[in-house]
Amino acid sequence: MSAPTDESEAQSLERLPQALSTREAWLDPFDWYTKMREDDPVRYDDDRDCWDLFRYEDVDRVLDDPETFSSDPRLASGLDMPPPEEQSPIMETMLLTDGDRHDRLRGVVEDRFRPRAIAERADRFESFAYPFPVIVIAELLGVPAEDRPQFRRWSETLIESPAPTDRSSAEAVRERQQQAGEELSEYFEGKLSARQGDQRDDLISVISRAERDGDLTHEEALGFCMLLLVAGNITTTNLITNAMRCLTETPAALERMESGEASTVSVIEEVLRYRSPVQALARIATESVEIRGRAIDDGDVVVPWLGAANRDPEVFDSPGQFRVDRAPNPHFGFGRGTHYCLGAPLARLEARIALEGLFERVTDIRRVGGQLQPVRSAFIYGVESFPIEFTTASA
Ligand code: HEM
Repeated sequence: MSAPTDESEAQSLERLPQALSTREAWLDPFDWYTKMREDDPVRYDDDRDCWDLFRYEDVDRVLDDPETFSSDPRLASGLDMPPPEEQSPIMETMLLTDGDRHDRLRGVVEDRFRPRAIAERADRFESFAYPFPVIVIAELLGVPAEDRPQFRRWSETLIESPAPTDRSSAEAVRERQQQAGEELSEYFEGKLSARQGDQRDDLISVISRAERDGDLTHEEALGFCMLLLVAGNITTTNLITNAMRCLTETPAALERMESGEASTVSVIEEVLRYRSPVQALARIATESVEIRGRAIDDGDVVVPWLGAANRDPEVFDSPGQFRVDRAPNPHFGFGRGTHYCLGAPLARLEARIALEGLFERVTDIRRVGGQLQPVRSAFIYGVESFPIEFTTASA
């Protein structure tokens, strides 16, 4: 889910595979995944210079072995990295580091994201899809709600991918991302220094305290704020819209949801599997390694396709069916292993509040026609908007 904030990572990750480069294909990439799982499960893409993995077992192996498959893009061979002083603070975050440093960084805020800590704040969360996740993270971080529109713009820019064949668009996207990264960094620079003398009960205070105590460098503190803002924003918004998409296209599921028969918790897990908001991750091989007889070199970029593994028939019965009561459901929607999503309890809670809130108030939900537009990203999956109609429930 690493936002491509610099050229290195952008080279292979900012673009979708050719087969998914049309609007229709990226709206529903699942037939292509099936073909790849069967015909070419460990595939080298010359165009993007990376390996693509599609089977559950292979994705699991890679995510479970961070020593051999690192999250640090600086280890990729053949990528021109900007000098360290020009790299975005996002490079200094847990998402893109391994080992002890990863654990030290994650440890700074881990307690604040545990299910119980999140549940204690639940009563302060309300509303629906966007701007809901932005409001929640702004509240947790401790930044003013008025700055929300900017957060949304920054987040969207940082996950954006250019059109697959368009070099000028790639250049423009990179420039926009650089600009957004600088603005975001400046924004948090101000907030962090303001908190030094004004500690409160929010995440920026936790982070600024860790910096003051020498547990975080200044760059790490800045990167931390940026990551927390960006990581949970577009992803959770897409979880909620993807849920509406899954439900409206599966009438039996919608009916069970509307009648209160289906558990919202398991519906959300099935959305995370069936239309995963994060479809692909990236890792760098730190040594030569073989997967299914294919020789992956030290420094090669490896892309585990979560969305493809989540429909692997070896693990899921009838994987192409959206089943509201699927159990067990060991999907990779939040990743796996040491980098398992820190915000998973928060995202689950937000989605539950949004869906329960909606289904309490309305019935007879249906999709309004019109062409869907996929989110312009090569790893975040969802649609730009998903208009619905409904009848307001009588009291
Ligand atoms: C539905 C919503 C979300 C989805 C689908 C999602 C998905 C993911 C995935 C797949 C990873 C693993 C990345 C990797 O292994 O490289 C991840 C990591 C992460 N997520 Fe989420 N995420 C969501 C919401 C959130 C929220 C709300 C936050 C918190 C503000 C958050 C913060 C993070 C952080 C900090 C990491 C990095 C953890 C680490 O490197 O140890 N995410 N997320």
